[in-house]
Amino acid sequence: ISPLGILVPLAQEAEALFALMKQDGATHTQRIGGRDYHSGHLFGRSCVLTLSRVGKVAAATAAAGLIHAYKVGAILNVGVAGGAAATVKVGDIVVADAMLQHDLDARPIFPRYEVPLTGMSRFAADAAIGNSLSQAIEAFLAEDLLQLSAEIRERFALAAPRLHRGLIISGDQFVNGHAAVAALRDDIPDALAIEMESGAVAQICHDYGIPCGVLRTISDSADDNAHVDFPAFLATVASFYSHHILRRFLQR
Ligand code: ADE
Repeated sequence: ISPLGILVPLAQEAEALFALMKQDGATHTQRIGGRDYHSGHLFGRSCVLTLSRVGKVAAATAAAGLIHAYKVGAILNVGVAGGAAATVKVGDIVVADAMLQHDLDARPIFPRYEVPLTGMSRFAADAAIGNSLSQAIEAFLAEDLLQLSAEIRERFALAAPRLHRGLIISGDQFVNGHAAVAALRDDIPDALAIEMESGAVAQICHDYGIPCGVLRTISDSADDNAHVDFPAFLATVASFYSHHILRRFLQR
């Protein structure tokens, strides 16, 4: 049975997951193209974890490495995102149904957002992975969230976090301004969340015929406050979310 590839853009979250892998038996690390691939088990499942680093090119390279060197059966992209829709709040979770690259624009040769010569702008996430992630998240929100300290929940104003499913948009920019996020909302009204990798992972997975899933914790609302307490959020909230959601997702 082929391993699951887990692609994580930021070190804080990747290191927290690597620590959990080490608790689950021996791991082996190989360095390819300037990044480490850790193979082993996570919550009993055969996995290969890599810190992709940030941005679409980094994510594409990491996804290709998982596929070529490890023959992964699926790729799960885990990370944080900015909220795009007004209903998506800090501490909420978004599972992708589809991904789009919002900075791809080869007009007038190709329609805006279309990946040239594919005829596609939206790439589907795997529905079965999305469904089982969603079940894991519902259980996490109902049963695990209260284990996060009251102090941290208060600090990040996590009242009653919700799960959203739909479109995630990616581009090579950290969206950090009211005007920028408003423009994206106008252009892509059904976008739920904004990040910098999953659109690339989705394109690679589509090319290779490999299912992909995307799990993103909302760290900010992509507006003028987007950078506030970002490292603290990663170290506390996001790492807690990915640990417990993946535990439920992988153990089922
Ligand atoms: N990842 C987390 N927050 C983000 C933002 N505001 N823009 C792009 N990527 C993000």
